[in-house]
Amino acid sequence: MHLPVNAMILRNAQFVRSAADPSGFPGDGRPRVVFAGRSNVGKSSTINSLVGRKGFARVSASPGKTVFVNLFLAENRLWLVDLPGYGYSKTSAREKERYSALIDAYLHADMKNIHRFMLIVDIRHEPTADDRLMAEWAQSYGLPLAVIANKADKLKPSQVAGQLSVVRSVLDLPESVPIIAFSAEKHTGRDEVIKEIFSGMGE
Ligand code: GTP
Ligand code: MG
Repeated sequence: MHLPVNAMILRNAQFVRSAADPSGFPGDGRPRVVFAGRSNVGKSSTINSLVGRKGFARVSASPGKTVFVNLFLAENRLWLVDLPGYGYSKTSAREKERYSALIDAYLHADMKNIHRFMLIVDIRHEPTADDRLMAEWAQSYGLPLAVIANKADKLKPSQVAGQLSVVRSVLDLPESVPIIAFSAEKHTGRDEVIKEIFSGMGE
């Protein structure tokens, strides 16, 4: 099988560690590609699809699986950062506080190295107030935001364009922010996501 070089770089990604606090965050200057989004939206599954390995980042049918900042290194070139999900109603208040403090600490500590901020939403639903806050936050810091509208396999093809417009308008995104219809399960839209990850990365 012959894969384009950027797809190969992602396929060679390795798990490095789970960070429970800032001491575990990457300390180098390599670019970070961050995957953020509501609990259960498919952040870990998206990383699995990109690296082409099913059990790579952990995935669960029960939300709240990713509880640390999970760090993967793709061929010594870029970090893939799997964040805990936000907004799961059944998580205890204390845990929610811990996750959001960790997400916040990560984003602030690493902001200057973030090459792409991939906000993952569920294409079937209107983005939530938390999704909107994340999109606003990323833009307010001038981070290069792209939105992945995941679980597109759950829609009829004829519904996809309409839902992308709903996501764009609820998140109030300017045309400059790309929204990609994606399915982590079926890998639809993967080439587009890979292109977005590597755009502006040189070489
Ligand atoms: P947390 O770590 O809890 O924040 O969740 P997450 O955002 O990492 O989601 P995860 O990848 O664990 O996926 C949650 C559930 O959604 C799992 O049951 C996945 O199999 C399912 N899922 C993820 N992506 C897709 C997709 O594209 N299509 C379908 N049909 N299911 C998906
Ligand atoms: Mg996860």
